[in-house]
Amino acid sequence: MQTMMNSQDHASEIEHSSTLDSDWWRQAVVYQIYPRSFFDTDGDGLGDIKGITQKVSYLKDLGIDAVWLSPFYPSPLADGGYDVANYTDVDPRLGSLADFDELISELHKVGIRVFVDIVPNHSSSEHPWFKQALASQPGSPERSRYHFYDGSGENGELPPSDWPSFFAPSAWTRTQNSDGSLGQWYLHLFAPEQPDFNWEHPDVPELFLQILKFWADRGVDGFRIDVAHALKKDMSQPFRSYPVLREMETPLTGDGVFLDRNEVHEVYKSWRILFNEYNPPRVAVAEAYIRPERRVLYASPDELGQAFNFDLLSSEFDAGEFRTVISKNLEFAAINASSSTWVLSNHDKPRHATKYGFAKIADADDWLLSSGESPVPDSALGLARARAATLLILALPGSTYLFQGEELGLYEVADIPVDQIQDPMWERSHHAAKGRDGCRVPLPWSANEKSFGFSSGTPHLPQPSGFGLFAADKQDRVSGSTLEMYRNAIKIRKQILVGESFSWIENPNSNVLHFQRENGWQCMTNFGSDSVPLPEGTLLIASTSESPEMLLPNTTVWVQK
Ligand code: GLC
Repeated sequence: MQTMMNSQDHASEIEHSSTLDSDWWRQAVVYQIYPRSFFDTDGDGLGDIKGITQKVSYLKDLGIDAVWLSPFYPSPLADGGYDVANYTDVDPRLGSLADFDELISELHKVGIRVFVDIVPNHSSSEHPWFKQALASQPGSPERSRYHFYDGSGENGELPPSDWPSFFAPSAWTRTQNSDGSLGQWYLHLFAPEQPDFNWEHPDVPELFLQILKFWADRGVDGFRIDVAHALKKDMSQPFRSYPVLREMETPLTGDGVFLDRNEVHEVYKSWRILFNEYNPPRVAVAEAYIRPERRVLYASPDELGQAFNFDLLSSEFDAGEFRTVISKNLEFAAINASSSTWVLSNHDKPRHATKYGFAKIADADDWLLSSGESPVPDSALGLARARAATLLILALPGSTYLFQGEELGLYEVADIPVDQIQDPMWERSHHAAKGRDGCRVPLPWSANEKSFGFSSGTPHLPQPSGFGLFAADKQDRVSGSTLEMYRNAIKIRKQILVGESFSWIENPNSNVLHFQRENGWQCMTNFGSDSVPLPEGTLLIASTSESPEMLLPNTTVWVQK
């Protein structure tokens, strides 16, 4: 197998990519870091900011363009940090603002840009504003920064409505007054520790403009916007019935009850004005699990600029499904002059190396619930398909978002003992959903060290003994390893990438996807169970470790014609 760059070429690439270029994000490879599970330098079992700084050379070797840091802010951790108690500080368990500044500076030095996660739909219940709201009277200005209502029923003993929370069951929780009596109810689309802001209150938009400015001034290059479609709610009838959350069925007219309402776009237009005051303009990507027709609005250049396309997260490893998703998303991204995004794994979904090991990806949920007993995934098949799918998406026009550990081929951990589960989904769903801890297990860095080199203490989530086989040091410079495949693919992609051209090359076999990009760069994936002829051209890279004569099942190759 041939790779096309030496280390000197790589150095000049970095210089190039760190020059000011307002389009840098359009085809960036962005690596998501879940800080508490990345690398721990102080032995408390939680990854920290200094830990990321220590691994800058690892990130540089991976060749990524940017990192996206999941929340690292002070938080009681009711939802893995997506419950923010202070938006403009660093959780003291993870470090300080000075550590953050050092991290940004070290990343920028090697040409890696930085996204931070902004959580505007809700705060933590430990946020000073929510504490003030609880300490104030019904109807007070402090309460109106959130959604407080009297309950229904004769004495307000029932929630105002049947609105569900994403973490089940109800989206309402009742407060207790200072004298111990029961009080009003407040709205939370997620956990009770995550009260939803009232975006109609002028303090709320003002607060978020200040937060964005705070991080942009510190040198942050981009923002990932959490549940971007939920900020605005129609609270004209808080007592109406709306029993099921249907993210993918929200009305195309933008007038649903509390998801994807048209008014939310005013918020993002005001953010864009702020982003464009910077040089280069700050960029953003919306997390909006809604229909693609509506998602594109968030991605328009006068709003956030880009939106996550999560369609592959729910696709089987199937040529037809991949083709439909790819074609549709390239078209949708073009509508608003955005570029598409591609995601196979993130901190909310079972890792793709595990999912693809099942006959149907939905089987992964049952397997998680049975603590890894049945049905059991074929892990070799899962990893082969995961590598093939990754190589495929890395050849597509647009940005690729990678989740930490996928470059090691990590699998989902199903057997976290129930008394160590952190995800609020587990308890809230009355144990009907295992939750998302299985992809958030701390990374294995070295096979033979305590906690595989993650921490000198006890990792905050237990690592399975099998993680040692996947440790970074076991794969470093090992030809054919998953880590080397990622490194080589990203390097080659960077060298070839100039434009965003894309066209399908028809293949008589419906299990094969074949397409070409600029400069004769072609990608072919065999989703079927029989080998097929390789495309003509020089082999650049293959997702299998051998260089076969034929394109094996569950394999992707890139060739240059
Ligand atoms: C987003 C995050 C998820 C979090 C939720 C609430 O979907 O990705 O992890 O639980 O928002 O903030």
